[in-house]
Formats: sequence, structure tokens, C-alpha cells
Amino acid sequence: MSGIRPTGYLHLGNYFGAMKNYVKLQEEYTCFFMVADLHALTTHPDTRELKENVHRVIAENIACGINPDKAALYCQSHVRETSELYLYLNMLAYLGELEKTTTFKDKARLQPDNINAGLLTYPVLQTADIILHRASWVPVGKDQEQHLEMARNFVKRFNHRYGEVFPEPMAYNFGEQLVKVPSLDGLGKMSKSENQMATIYLADDDELIRKKVMKAKTDAGPTEPNTPKPDYIENIFQLMNLVSKAETIQAFEKSYLDCTIRYGDMKKQLAEDMVEFVAPIRMKAASIQQDKTYLKKTMDIGAEKARDSATKTMQLVRAAMGLDY
Ligand code: TRP
Repeated sequence: MSGIRPTGYLHLGNYFGAMKNYVKLQEEYTCFFMVADLHALTTHPDTRELKENVHRVIAENIACGINPDKAALYCQSHVRETSELYLYLNMLAYLGELEKTTTFKDKARLQPDNINAGLLTYPVLQTADIILHRASWVPVGKDQEQHLEMARNFVKRFNHRYGEVFPEPMAYNFGEQLVKVPSLDGLGKMSKSENQMATIYLADDDELIRKKVMKAKTDAGPTEPNTPKPDYIENIFQLMNLVSKAETIQAFEKSYLDCTIRYGDMKKQLAEDMVEFVAPIRMKAASIQQDKTYLKKTMDIGAEKARDSATKTMQLVRAAMGLDY
């Protein structure tokens, strides 16, 4: 089970760090992939753009290879059982631990005029999402580790008080396959919201991709054979590794070693390979996003699968809690 908030645009970091692996997971496991529109309300109370954003995330997920006939691909608010479980779990969550959560503290600092209770209990809602399907594995990045640890604590408390209902959810680690996608400015990773010119989004058009890649930081090139690569050059090679052919990469590696490399040429090549990679995903996502009938049907199917699983869990929960009179 995993979730993604419909705030901001999906980028190459999301693709290589998450979605590409989800596509593999759906072949091996019963998967639930959810668009967290309720979580979005904790930071984005204005809902005018929410529907389009939810549609876009669903469309992009499908364009990236999530198969709605295999995995349950659904929208959080379509599964009302989430809210019920969230309520019960709130009675097991302590103010002290919620206030100590890193993401709460960060967001409270960013929006001092809207430190709402939903922001405080964000990890409780996330726990409800996960354990609603009694999920064991949650494929997420490092930034979600604290939330998962809290989820395990809430589960332990529930099981201890009311009887064993839930497995303890663990982060699903892709190990070797976990790729970090560096940003184009050599400063950190590609990101949903910060530094948009250093991040390639799946919705970027060809010209914008070219422009962003050509702006990537380089220098005059190595002057002595076998010089170690500076970080920002290493990043360009890493990005090539994601989208370019092996021969192309080898040729640039060789020209780096013998100091004949021309970074302008390398970036032009990288830009073209990126365009070739992103364009089909962008076009597929755009055509899905326009097809509101298909989107509705797909989200209905996903919601039904999720509700099916949620209904079963909630029967166990109510029975365990003695709320089955
Ligand atoms: N908190 C996650 C994020 O910001 C999104 C999320 C919501 C989630 N519910 C989840 C992730 C359940 C995993 C499982 O990225």
C-alpha cells in the first residue's frame, strides 16, 4: 500500500524512485495505490484545483505503467472507512508524540496561521490508509520513515488493547534498485515543489526539457586523464544512466577519461534522450486526463476494490473493539 499527495507535479525522481518499482510490485503483490486528497487538505484547504490535480496524478500513474486492472488505484476520499478508522486511531495517538513529528514541525513553521488538527494527526490518517488493507509493506522514500514508525506504534497499541487485528507495516525497501535522481543544479534531488528549473516533470514539454538540461552546471572539463568527477558532473552521468543507451554513456565516459569530453554535446545528447523518455508518458497522461469518462470508470473500479478490502477490515475492527452491537 502506498499513497501520493495530489499537490505538485510528478517528476523523474518520483518515476525512478517510486513508480517504476510500483509497476513491478503490481505483478507480484496485491497492491493498493492511493491518491491522498484528504491529506492534501491539511496544507491546501482551497479545493478549486483539487479535482484536476487528482485526475492528473491518476492519469500520470497509469501513463507510467500502473495497471488499474491489476493494482487498486483509487482516491482516498472515495473510501469512507478511512475516516472511521482514523477516528478510532485518534484515541490511541498522544498529543506529545504527534507534536514531535518532524513533518508536523516543518509544516507548522511553513503555515503558522493554519496549524490545524488535521496537520497534527496527519500520521494517524496515514496509518488508517495503510492498515485499512492490513498491509504489511509500504513502498515509500526515506522521508516517510518516521510516519511508518508511528504507524507501527499505533498498531501495537491497537493490537495490545483490543486484540491482534493488524500486521505491523514495514517500509518496503527496493535495496539496490533504489535510485536517487539528482537535480540539474547539482544541489540535492529532484523535488515536487522546490527548484522547478532543476527538476524534470513528467508534464514538461520538449522545449522546456531541453532548456532545463542545457542549463545544468558544468565546467571547462578535465585537463588531466583519470581526474575524479566533480559532483555536478557525476550527476549528469547519473541522469544519462537513467535514460540513455549504454553505448552513449560509454562513449562519454571514455571521452571524460581522455579529456576530450565536450559537456555541451553531452547535455544535448542527454536532453534528446530525456525528451524521448518523457514525451510518450506526457502524451499518454494528457490524453487520459482529458478522458473524464475513462477516469471516472477507472476511479470507480479502484474505489470498489479498496472498499471491499476496507469493509472486511472494519468488521474485524468493530468486533475487536466491541462496537458490534
Ligand atoms: N505522507 C505521504 C507523502 O507525503 C503520502 C501518503 C498518504 C502515504 N498516505 C499514505 C504514503 C499511506 C504511504 C502510505 O508522501
